[in-house]
Amino acid sequence: MRHFLTTLDWSRAELETLLADAHALKGGLAGTELANKTLGLLFFNPSLRTRTSFEIGARQLGGAAVVLEPGKGAWPIAFEPGLVMDGEEEEHVSEVARVLSRYCDVIGVRAFPKFQDWSVDREDRVLRSFVQHATVPVINLETITHPCQELALMLTLQERLGTTDGKKLLLTWTYHPKPLNTAVANSALIIAAKFGFDVTLLCPTEEYLLDARYMNAAKASVAENGRTLTVTHDIASAYAGAHVVYAKSWGALPYFGRWAEEKPLRERSKHVIVDEAKMALTGGGLFSHCLPVRRNVKVTDAVLDSPACIAIDEAENRLHVQKAILRALVRR
Ligand code: CP
Repeated sequence: MRHFLTTLDWSRAELETLLADAHALKGGLAGTELANKTLGLLFFNPSLRTRTSFEIGARQLGGAAVVLEPGKGAWPIAFEPGLVMDGEEEEHVSEVARVLSRYCDVIGVRAFPKFQDWSVDREDRVLRSFVQHATVPVINLETITHPCQELALMLTLQERLGTTDGKKLLLTWTYHPKPLNTAVANSALIIAAKFGFDVTLLCPTEEYLLDARYMNAAKASVAENGRTLTVTHDIASAYAGAHVVYAKSWGALPYFGRWAEEKPLRERSKHVIVDEAKMALTGGGLFSHCLPVRRNVKVTDAVLDSPACIAIDEAENRLHVQKAILRALVRR
């Protein structure tokens, strides 16, 4: 049985097949693979795009989706094996995953890090627990990576750029008042490297480097593709000649769980906002963001409202790529 947990588990050729299917679905191909099937979606964190696009996608493929928010309308769930469950949780993932597998044909899980100890969060235990106990395919709806967002970004870039090989993608950290999940940044890094981009990672200081698992995966991909991975703190050289600027904010991993100590570092980096002057350095580059985005904090109005911004296309493409993923998982 195949799951969709991280694109590290999928070859570029397999992902290209999913993207080709997504392109056909966007062009009007009618899929019926979910007829009489049900998608169970567990959201431990809020969502607009993921929830809406999966519910609609399931319906468009002839099926149905059930959304559950554990701890809010559904029982809070415990995950640790061997736990004496005398706390707040009313049931264990062992029962939840097996019961949902009797009702549903695919299970999706969104579970952000707890933001206390990265050495724990990087194990992705909530998602992996569902995989361990479920008897149906599991989709990552964003945990420590966001693979559905990766495919939506790649579909959008293929639409705009044609081939992605040899193009320059800048992944820029950008200011946000809170320390956010590294998932989308990890994802943008690994998928851009896998799809043949020369990748530049711009971040304010060394503390904002991403987890070694993803840095090393990107290094391996660019080496395989004959491309480069550049890490820089210099804004001008990072933006110069970029075909794509992808922005995301994230918390510095060395300060995980000690966010008050990270705050001064973050507050010194407000100038890393994406604005027109920086975009001009690209010489006509595209801009995108996974959304939601805080206007004039992470990115200026002028950039978000410019023709260079393809974030709304990327959001639409979530629907098409997720339908392709669902088709692939239920066909197996
Ligand atoms: N980009 C994304 O996953 O959006 P939501 O958090 O709204 O689902």
